[in-house]
Amino acid sequence: MKIRMLTAATSALFLGLAALPPALRADEEEKPYKVENGHVDKETFNGYRRYGNSCLQCHGPDGAGSSYAPNLTESLKHLTQEQFNETVINGRQNVTQSQQNVMPSFGNVEDVAMYINDIYGYLKARSDGALGRGRPQRMDN
Ligand code: HEC
Repeated sequence: MKIRMLTAATSALFLGLAALPPALRADEEEKPYKVENGHVDKETFNGYRRYGNSCLQCHGPDGAGSSYAPNLTESLKHLTQEQFNETVINGRQNVTQSQQNVMPSFGNVEDVAMYINDIYGYLKARSDGALGRGRPQRMDN
């Protein structure tokens, strides 16, 4: 009797646990950046720097866009990382009679192509609202 009750309790516990992992997994879903108390990891900081060197001139400070090129913190709410990579590596043109806006191809630009994950991570952190505007603080380690 005692054993059966224990078994029932144990299987209830297992059922309970079995129901948990999906929720946990959603929470722990790997983010492409790390931000803690406004401090970022090495990769995210590197993304910030690379963005400043290669993208800011068109997309504006902090990815916030300009009259020439779109706000990337908005773009990354609907673009997948694959679509992001594709655009950055191959470039894109939007040519109409009234405008000719060119997104250059960075496939041959090592400083961008090699660190595209870091740039994506930085912009995703901005897009998710995990990181504010301006130069981020680096984590100590
Ligand atoms: C010379 C100016 C210029 C530079 C430099 C530039 N971009 Fe762009 N980018 C554009 C323009 C213009 C568009 C919009 C093209 C279009 O409408 O088809 C664009 C579009 C994009 C898009 C697609 C946005 C969307 O909503 O679909 C992404 C992603 C992007 N750029 C990322 C970057 C990154 C990352 C860098 C730096 C490595 C960068 N760009 C550098 C001008 C630039």
